[in-house]
Amino acid sequence: MYTEIIKIIEGGLKKDPSKVILYAKKLAEKLMADGNEQLAKGINSLLSNKAVSTVTMEQLLTTAPVDQETRMSIVDVFNPALVDVHLVLPESIEKKVNEFIKVIQHRDKIKEMGLTAQNTLLLYGAPGVGKTTIAKYISLKTGLPLVIARMDSLISSLLGNTSKNIRKIFEYADSKPCILFLDEFDAIAKARDDQHEMGELKRVINSLLQNIDLFTQNNVMIAATNHPELLDKAIWRRFNSVMEIGQPNVEGIEKLVEMYLGKFNENMHEEKKKYDRVIHQFAKKTPSDIRTIIQNVITQAVIEGRKNVTAEDLLIENFEFDTHGKYNSEDLIKYLSENGISRQQISELLNLSVRQIRNNLKEV
Ligand SMILES: Nc1ncnc2c1ncn2[C@@H]1O[C@H](COP(=O)(O)OP(=O)(O)OP(=O)(O)O)[C@@H](O)[C@H]1O
Ligand SMILES: [Mg+2]
Repeated sequence: MYTEIIKIIEGGLKKDPSKVILYAKKLAEKLMADGNEQLAKGINSLLSNKAVSTVTMEQLLTTAPVDQETRMSIVDVFNPALVDVHLVLPESIEKKVNEFIKVIQHRDKIKEMGLTAQNTLLLYGAPGVGKTTIAKYISLKTGLPLVIARMDSLISSLLGNTSKNIRKIFEYADSKPCILFLDEFDAIAKARDDQHEMGELKRVINSLLQNIDLFTQNNVMIAATNHPELLDKAIWRRFNSVMEIGQPNVEGIEKLVEMYLGKFNENMHEEKKKYDRVIHQFAKKTPSDIRTIIQNVITQAVIEGRKNVTAEDLLIENFEFDTHGKYNSEDLIKYLSENGISRQQISELLNLSVRQIRNNLKEV
């Protein structure tokens, strides 16, 4: 372990971040093996904020394009080596995502055969269903850094600048092996409703289309949107692969709950029936919502020093989530009772007498 520490110090003194990262990773692995999980995780989370590890990453970071006026960077770069992505998707989508990954992995071979690799992907679906997470997952599996450009922040009030920024981003992403991820892709189309001059906007869209055409011959591009209906045909045509990401089904919700609960998921198997109710209550929620609810419950358990969370905790949090915290206790009592929680238990959970609970339920 001392070797790693010395190497990290050496790397720091020589301003060699890749060395620091390499040995910090090794140190974290050793700490983890020694059972010092907390420290290992601390190191790993520090590393994931520093998206530098390889020469490519360093180049990408030092040359990231900036807006001419604001001097702000117009892309974010994610290092796949340091990002841990867990994804739960319906089987058919998972299959398509994996196929896309395989094509990227074998794209040289495909090109050698004179074929075109399917390397453009459009993801659409409601907020929080995992579009950005899928892009990160593809980056992780292919080892290609993800260059994220948010189209909504790109559309500046100065449309002239927008075209310039778009060109800069494509040139930048084209010069290194990476995946270009155009997030909030509909922003381009949305700008139509704003007060921009139509001619100017047309030029922006045309420059986007031209850049896409030139770029995609050699590289990988993913775009994501919540509003597929706003994209016109000319844009759709440029994507070889299109995926609609929907809400998870019951099986998916179960997997998500188990995953987000992590080591707090013991009760889930012991109290299957109760958890089935929770799963049922999570129907129509996005993975992002489910994650928020579970994380709130876990946080509460940690604060209270509990090693477990229960189905009841999840039901209460779910109710609070749905009502945005604005409810009266009668409604919560009714909700818990409808979800199979006994009067005795409700009284313990809410610190009320069984009699109060009984009266409440009678009234309703
Ligand atoms: N399918 C999924 N599997 C696992 N986790 C998910 C999934 N979808 C979303 N999440 C979780 O929810 C969070 C938000 O998801 P993400 O940002 O990928 O959604 P999005 O579809 O890109 O939403 P938006 O349209 O708002 O950009 C992620 O950080 C991730 O933890
Ligand atoms: Mg997103």
